[in-house]
Amino acid sequence: MNESGTRSPFLAFFLNSIEEAGRVKRMPPPLLPSLSSNNYLGLAGHPKVIEASIEALRKSGAGSTGSRYLSGNHPLNEALETRIAHFKSKGAGAGLIFSSGYHANLSAVSVFGSHAGAIYSDAENHASLIDGLRLLKKPIHVYPHRNWEWIRGHLRKSGRGTPMIVSESLFSMSGDLGPIPELLEIVRETGGILIIDDAHATGTLGTTGRGGLEHFSLEFDPDHMIVTGTFSKALGSHGGFAILGEAGKIILTSLARPLIYTTALPPAVLAASLSSLDLLETDSHLPKSLQTLSEKWQTKLTGHVSLSPILNLRGDQETLELESSKLMDLGFAVPVLRYPTVPFGEERLRISVNLTWAPMVEEALLETFSRRIERL
Ligand SMILES: Cc1ncc(COP(=O)(O)O)c(C=O)c1O
Repeated sequence: MNESGTRSPFLAFFLNSIEEAGRVKRMPPPLLPSLSSNNYLGLAGHPKVIEASIEALRKSGAGSTGSRYLSGNHPLNEALETRIAHFKSKGAGAGLIFSSGYHANLSAVSVFGSHAGAIYSDAENHASLIDGLRLLKKPIHVYPHRNWEWIRGHLRKSGRGTPMIVSESLFSMSGDLGPIPELLEIVRETGGILIIDDAHATGTLGTTGRGGLEHFSLEFDPDHMIVTGTFSKALGSHGGFAILGEAGKIILTSLARPLIYTTALPPAVLAASLSSLDLLETDSHLPKSLQTLSEKWQTKLTGHVSLSPILNLRGDQETLELESSKLMDLGFAVPVLRYPTVPFGEERLRISVNLTWAPMVEEALLETFSRRIERL
């Protein structure tokens, strides 16, 4: 038996190799309050959301019992598809529900990418989009972060067929906005398709929280875009979605293996998502309040004027470690993000502004980041 508690040379060698590459990850202590929570609007703990979920649990049981293609197609799936499509596209698109945002991205990117002539992906795209692209086994053009002009230049030079462009609307690691209007213009001119991952923008961007399109005053275009997202962040529940035209929905329903070969979401989860959407539609001050709070903390800690709830605090390794352990002493878990979550040399602390923040959180931030605040 060696130090890592294994007698297996295979496992010992494997573990050693990931240790040497600095790729070992550990979970933070359970239930230590985190400042990286995606519960932006506090809906995960909202009494109405919890009540709706309990009611569905009592009525329909704990599990969904099978894939949606077999026994798992509870009526709440279709109800939620209609509601999310209405919320995200004012009914101009159709909705399709997945087990998670990861599954939604894996499906949309791999299915539509299989038919595209040239594929462009932002260098900072989320792992779920990258994994979908990996399934394609095709060349992928990774363009410099947010650089839509690079895509134009490449298309001009290569003259390759119909492009598929993949970008987040609100980037999960940096909090930057994707250049959605410019990317949309490119796919409209070339007859291509734009996949917009609206995971962090849903509930947080736009006056009523409808996401990236609302923020940029754009309408949903079923012929040129697919919007994906998740119920697990601002909506406080679980599961993923894609919003697409009717043709796109038939294609994805027919070919998306991460949808076909997995058990459907439990009814209690679907009911929670429906209830969150009800709250957002009736209580639409929530996104605005989050944007006001985000703007305040962006200005204070990063010096940027931004509505993004994602605070991206870069610095040298030593400073970041000190800040992280200071926050840990004050009772909050904010690990330093390292490779492969972010590129080498771009380590950072990532903090998500939440409407649930108690005064204690604000005090801890002011104390921990006092030197950054002074420097700004
Ligand atoms: C940008 C982005 N896309 C997709 C996902 C996946 O969503 P989910 O957690 O529902 O799988 C995440 C979250 O981890 C994300 O940050």
